[in-house]
Amino acid sequence: MNRHASGVAVLDLEPAASDFLAEVIESLFSSPKTLPSKFFYDERGSDLFQQICELPEYYITRTEAEILRVHGAEMAASIGENAEIVGFGTGAGIKTRMLLGHLENPIAYVPVDISKQRLMDSAAALQCEMPTLEILPVCADYLQPLQLPRSSRKPDHVAVYFPGSTIGNLEPPIAQDFLRRVCRLCGHSGGLVIGVDLQKSPEILEAAYNDSAGVTAAFNLNLLVRANRELGADFDIAQWHHRAIYNREIGRIEMHLLSARQQTAHVGGEEFHFFPGEKIITEFSYKYTQEGFIALAATAGFRFSHVWTDPQKLFAVFHFVVAD
Ligand code: AVJ
Repeated sequence: MNRHASGVAVLDLEPAASDFLAEVIESLFSSPKTLPSKFFYDERGSDLFQQICELPEYYITRTEAEILRVHGAEMAASIGENAEIVGFGTGAGIKTRMLLGHLENPIAYVPVDISKQRLMDSAAALQCEMPTLEILPVCADYLQPLQLPRSSRKPDHVAVYFPGSTIGNLEPPIAQDFLRRVCRLCGHSGGLVIGVDLQKSPEILEAAYNDSAGVTAAFNLNLLVRANRELGADFDIAQWHHRAIYNREIGRIEMHLLSARQQTAHVGGEEFHFFPGEKIITEFSYKYTQEGFIALAATAGFRFSHVWTDPQKLFAVFHFVVAD
């Protein structure tokens, strides 16, 4: 157990530092070449992502927060009393507070996050605001199988809260496996409250991922900067460009790094050649229709309960319950 200055104890199930080098090499050997989006979030990348969330074009964060602000009380009523809330990657916890504050007799809050520092800081801040709430932070990768800590009082049911449309990073079969695990984790009479970005006009979507200030470009290019610094790679950053396109048929944003010319890069003793205009795929961000997401959740064992959206139907927050 790690104890934060505030006295909040963290259950530490942090995975072994994933092998950045091995994963970079493996994904650059694939065709087309890729780099895993999970490596975006070093210190600089997390900082850039924070800036993305505040961009005028990036409607996601602000729209989801607004849905929580307007409908948080209804969501809490839909979840019901005596619940244990498990938060997946809830970050600074601004949205989570809008939910927890309305809950009738919450038994415990279990924030799960891969970043120990973010986890401890946000848990400590929340504990100050809600001194009687039992908070049981877990440092772990919530995409992997997970064992929850036991709260001192027994909840009537467990509800997982997964904001931010992070589910969109997973290809649908992986998203389905993940949702199945969530279904098992929350068990009998359990529930899931999940934020999902919706399909919309390509203009709005492409603007959100090609912002005019170039923050998303810096975020994308930071993968190469990070590989150069941490792996001794020699990507010539000036010869790479950011591009995000919306694939309408599949319903996903595809983030690419484009090679400006014929070039070679070395990573860990391997040599990679790039032709002019060749892409490295760095991220998919799937966008769903309401029906499409309800159908996906159903294949994982969840029954639809409620959905809340903004007036423009940019974003949706769903409540599902475990089907009997
Ligand atoms: C954190 C996965 C929700 O897909 O919108 C933002 C990541 N990438 N801009 C998203 C991201 C480029 C973001 N998620």
